[in-house]
Amino acid sequence: MNSVLDVIRRRYACRSYAPTPVPPEVLRQVAEAGLRAPSGRDRQPWRIIAVTAPEVVAELERAGLEALRQLDPKGHADIIERGGRLLYGAPVVLVVARLDLPGKGTEVDTGVLVSHLLLAATELGLATCPNRMLGKLFQSPEGARFERLLSFPEGFEYGLAILLGYAAEEPRPPHEPDFSKFIEIA
Ligand SMILES: Cc1cc2nc3c(=O)[nH]c(=O)nc-3n(C[C@H](O)[C@H](O)[C@H](O)COP(=O)(O)O)c2cc1C
Repeated sequence: MNSVLDVIRRRYACRSYAPTPVPPEVLRQVAEAGLRAPSGRDRQPWRIIAVTAPEVVAELERAGLEALRQLDPKGHADIIERGGRLLYGAPVVLVVARLDLPGKGTEVDTGVLVSHLLLAATELGLATCPNRMLGKLFQSPEGARFERLLSFPEGFEYGLAILLGYAAEEPRPPHEPDFSKFIEIA
């Protein structure tokens, strides 16, 4: 069994995935770790939508890139420079939808959920990458169609996506911890 600290040290943002599918039981274990995340007042203001259908992943890639091109030309240029793939060939896209409750901190709750998902997936041998850029799709004219396609319940909005799969490359070292950002008042 990996220790949590070891898994935290190994997790990195993977930007190249093999097409190998993720077994459903592995995906379920990742989801369970997310669903065990704490949340304010135990509201659990989230849905985890696992997209594994290749044609839907391809549609997210196509429409997401187009939305980025229209709404965030700089972000779009960055993706083109990195090889032109928004989702880096990941076979699974976990879309985390968040209940929009102003003033209740549901962004923080979903951040904790995302952290559980990333670490559990790493422990299970998967590579991961959080993805905010796909959010442009939900701000675009196509957004409402995709909210329906992904079964967002009423009142929910895009929080973040997590790309999941098996790395096509050697693991890259993650960023180094910057202890100048740790302040001790002793
Ligand atoms: C909230 C959030 C959003 C992110 N969005 C993207 C994204 O849209 N595309 C991408 O390639 N990486 C994205 N990342 C990955 C970061 O760029 C990456 O975590 C950071 O550069 C540190 O690298 P490391 O995770 O390998 O240590 C995101 C990370 C977080 C936490």
